[in-house]
Amino acid sequence: MSRTVYVNGEYLPEEEAKISIFDRGFLMADAVYEVTSVLGGKLIDFAGHAERLHRSLALLDMRQPVTDEELLAIHRELVARNGIEDGLVYLQVTRGNPGDRDFAFPDPDQVKAGIVLFTQSKPGLADNPAAKVGMKVISIPDIRWGRRDIKTVQLLYPSIGKMMAKKAGCDDAWFVEDEGVVTEGTSNNAYIVKGGKIVTRQLSEDILHGITRAAILRFAREAQMVVEERAFTVAEAQAADEAFVTSASAFVMPVVEIDGVALGSGEPGPVTRRLREIYLEESRKAAI
Ligand code: PDD
Repeated sequence: MSRTVYVNGEYLPEEEAKISIFDRGFLMADAVYEVTSVLGGKLIDFAGHAERLHRSLALLDMRQPVTDEELLAIHRELVARNGIEDGLVYLQVTRGNPGDRDFAFPDPDQVKAGIVLFTQSKPGLADNPAAKVGMKVISIPDIRWGRRDIKTVQLLYPSIGKMMAKKAGCDDAWFVEDEGVVTEGTSNNAYIVKGGKIVTRQLSEDILHGITRAAILRFAREAQMVVEERAFTVAEAQAADEAFVTSASAFVMPVVEIDGVALGSGEPGPVTRRLREIYLEESRKAAI
């Protein structure tokens, strides 16, 4: 069935939605995005995603083409029109269409930023069977650009990383740099658990500041768990009791194998399972 999508002020059937070939998102990957999950027809962590969108736009000197109130209303309207119970809302803001190809940014007073949103229905998103068995990951060099804290649509290398994982018979890849130090997953933040302590890389320009990460660390601390925000290596991860990743689409997803080495019991561990439970319970309660 055809979805209703949102393009620059209009709700349209997906077949009728069109973007110019001169759009800078298309030509230059000059665009930022957000993915917000939907559970029970409600948006999870919307305020966090809106805040990170502001930050990405500000860092790239782009303007938000609609107000925050409009942004929320568009999300809700698309969820309602497409009957989304569980799924995702994808949002992209591009620097727009200057009418030709040029490396220099157009004047934002002349060229308005473009905005596109669409939904993805994922029935049973919170009951993903992968959460029961856990994921196998490989490590690959992190050769992305140096501002991974800005959520741009430059996703070619993360896509290549997923394909490398697939080819190796695994589910995902963790990026590493500086002699095996883990930055993050292709589309998620990475964690290990050792002796009950949760370790995840500190925020910087090297990783995306995950909205799910912020929530998980808050819930973990509220539950009196010990959290250490620092870098860790693949070797340290392989010797950990548990590992997991977080993102808006996967929530908390166990990792049971890294580069062919099984972690702990080889099954999702108790800390990971507990954090997933808490996250789903608390974020459903706070959903809007
Ligand atoms: N990806 N790190 C990277 C590189 C990501 O692409 C993502 C999210 C995250 C987790 O961020 P959050 O918790 O805010 O979703 C970390 C989204 C889900 C995507 O590209 O589909």
